[in-house]
Amino acid sequence: MGKVKATPENVKKAAAIIRGGGVAAFPTETVYGLGADGLNPEACARIFEIKKRPRFDPLILHECSAARASRLFSGVPAAARRLMKRFWPGPLTLVLPKASAVPDIVTAGLPTVAVRVPANRHALALIKAAGRPIAAPSANSFGRLSPTTAAHVQKQLGCGPDIILDGGRTAIGVESTIITFEGGRPVLLRPGGLPLEEIEKVAGPAVKQGRSYGRTPPAPGCLKKHYAPRSKLVIITPGQAVKQGARTGYLAFSKEPAGKFRMVKVLSRSGDLREAAAGLFSALHQLEASGAAVIYAERVPAHGLGRAIMDRLGRASAA
Ligand code: TXA
Ligand code: MG
Repeated sequence: MGKVKATPENVKKAAAIIRGGGVAAFPTETVYGLGADGLNPEACARIFEIKKRPRFDPLILHECSAARASRLFSGVPAAARRLMKRFWPGPLTLVLPKASAVPDIVTAGLPTVAVRVPANRHALALIKAAGRPIAAPSANSFGRLSPTTAAHVQKQLGCGPDIILDGGRTAIGVESTIITFEGGRPVLLRPGGLPLEEIEKVAGPAVKQGRSYGRTPPAPGCLKKHYAPRSKLVIITPGQAVKQGARTGYLAFSKEPAGKFRMVKVLSRSGDLREAAAGLFSALHQLEASGAAVIYAERVPAHGLGRAIMDRLGRASAA
């Protein structure tokens, strides 16, 4: 069926596809997801085939309300409950002990499951119409740039998904923040679309990445090379002298660089980190498509959404 506009009729079609064990790409407020029935192991296995993931990573289950999402967990700490109330629907994923109904392929055999309620009307309508949790990783090929438009999905996955719902450009542009709990304390597994500062106001100080998680594998982001464009990406400080020319692309935070490049993208002329995050992957997709062999990417302030931006740039630059 390919790419279709996310009209109410097409959302219903996509829900029927998911109920029938098929795979539908759909917009969320963060990035596009590649969705299947989260309680059907064979349907979930197709997600990995389409993404060409070399192994089974755990998937995020998407629900349409906190009440329904809670049923996928076997227990919810008080601080996690407060986060759900404050931030769902929104770009926050919680990893907590799983309910028995959650299949092993979703959790990659872990005793915990990742769940979120997306803040996108098409996504919520799709989940409601499907009447079950939708398992969905980002709708990109393994290790490639995340998709923030339906065209990005189509370019990478072609006719892999049974349907691609086009709901326009995603509002946040980077994946959800992933939080788990250990001994009642929040632990940051992946920085993302919800700033850590907001989370800490509600759940208290968080343990940050860079420690061991016991039996929990690191979040996907923790694969060193991830979210990568095909060009070589080099992180620089704004104002730093770099090699110019037709082979070079330049990703600026707020100011146009001096000199000539193959392509220049400025993330936010007003220096707004939210705007920068929303346009990050799109800018990288365009720089990659320009054929630049090297992309210089400026550092952004590492607070608020800047933490997620720097995390994704760091991974894209890993050799
Ligand atoms: O914004 C998002 O989170 C997007 C949209 C589509 O919702 N989804 C997304 O999914 O980014 P994905 O698969 O690209 O990243 C989800 C990551 C997994 O790679 C995995 O490492 C982590 O969530 N994860 C899932 N279950 C986990 C678990 N039980 N323990 C630790 N990490 C888990
Ligand atoms: Mg991903």
